[in-house]
Amino acid sequence: MLADSALTEEAHKALEDAILYYRGKPIGTVAACDPDAEAVNYDQCFVRDFVPSALFFLMQGKPDIVRNFLVEMLGLQSRERRLDCFQPGQGLHPASFKVQVQDGEEHLIGDFGEQAIARVAPIDSCFWWLILLRAYVKATGDRTLAHRSDFQHGIHLILQLCLEARFDLFPTLLVPDGSFMIDRRMGVYGYPLEIQALFYAALRSARELLLPEATYLPAVKTRLQHLTYHVQTYYWIDLKRLNEIYRYKGEEFGALVMNQFNIYPDTIPGWLIDWLTDTGGYLAGNLGPGQIDFRFFGLGNLMAVMSSLASEHQSQAVMNLIDQRWQDLIGYMPLKICFPALEGQDWHTVTGCDPKNTPWSYHNGGNWPVLLWLLTAAALKTNKPELAYSALKIAEERLLSDQWSEYYDGRQGKLIGKEARKYQTWTIAAFLVAQELLKNPNFLSLICFDADPDVTPCRS
Ligand code: GLC
Repeated sequence: MLADSALTEEAHKALEDAILYYRGKPIGTVAACDPDAEAVNYDQCFVRDFVPSALFFLMQGKPDIVRNFLVEMLGLQSRERRLDCFQPGQGLHPASFKVQVQDGEEHLIGDFGEQAIARVAPIDSCFWWLILLRAYVKATGDRTLAHRSDFQHGIHLILQLCLEARFDLFPTLLVPDGSFMIDRRMGVYGYPLEIQALFYAALRSARELLLPEATYLPAVKTRLQHLTYHVQTYYWIDLKRLNEIYRYKGEEFGALVMNQFNIYPDTIPGWLIDWLTDTGGYLAGNLGPGQIDFRFFGLGNLMAVMSSLASEHQSQAVMNLIDQRWQDLIGYMPLKICFPALEGQDWHTVTGCDPKNTPWSYHNGGNWPVLLWLLTAAALKTNKPELAYSALKIAEERLLSDQWSEYYDGRQGKLIGKEARKYQTWTIAAFLVAQELLKNPNFLSLICFDADPDVTPCRS
């Protein structure tokens, strides 16, 4: 293994190589620079992939690339009122963009899912953009960018999209399958946790960034309260709550019922009862009519801890669970994107026989080093730095020799992902951000939120 500084130097170099330029200015990083794989769209800058790179640049005192990214992304945001079904909804940001040369001039072309495999909608992009805008303001102290009228209008459009026209009556956000990091069919449509956690962090960011007279400010505040109550109460799984669900009655009608979502106890999966620990807990992957998805999703849970969507008690329990189920969730590379994998008939039905998402591979139970930065932030926020140190140590042993692999396969993440890219930029950046956070925990303020003073926690 290389000495720390040599490893870090390699990471710096690889991140530098991933920078994308537009009209002479750095504006983002490409998803991967794998010399042995066909680029497909990995030579584009993905919004979600750029987040750890951006945070690292901010931590390094290099905010220009982040500013350029924020400005150009605002330019790519869908502005027209949607008049035909092929136009992206007003307010949406693309999943990714590329630089195209036309008549000798460079142009940016966004992909809202018109090109992406399976034509998935990138709902998470507008949330990441808002979260990053807040991080930029925090890092530079420069509020003028966010207060510019075009930025205020951009925020307004995102809020309009999320807070106004809708089909349902929940505080959570209804989305199609594959609309975030898991951008393939995985049974994550409806109300997936990751979207709710990002939505929450984006609303918190908007509340900080909007000018006091902004029309949506009261709606943002109210939504934050309802969303917090809903997620903390109904998504939460620990032994106490499992006992409640186990004894649920079905078919309850009316306003004051226990089993509001008509969950049948028979849907509690066998693995869960032994897997839950006395002091551990987590937020379920999804909740809708007649459905709790009991799978553990890494990003959603960590983001809920970082943003304080989870209560203090719940945040501690999430980190306890990661600690107590270390082999399952961290294993040979932090961290499982989702646990457990869908197998057999479930894999068949839910993924549509997806050969890339076979059990314990890729999104279906693979381990993703990009999650290291979120794990580090969540561990520091909950005052459990030892978890972050242990995870980083595991990652350090393999990242460089495995050439910054995109993901890992197997129950414990022992194998380099079957179709994993090498030199995956967010793997590199996540490692660098994790290191920086451990060196200087003050950086947590860029991406974490204190408990919301407007909200009374509903569960102890
Ligand atoms: C894959 C991942 C997605 C990521 C993209 C670029 O499609 O599922 O989350 O943004 O690759 O790395």
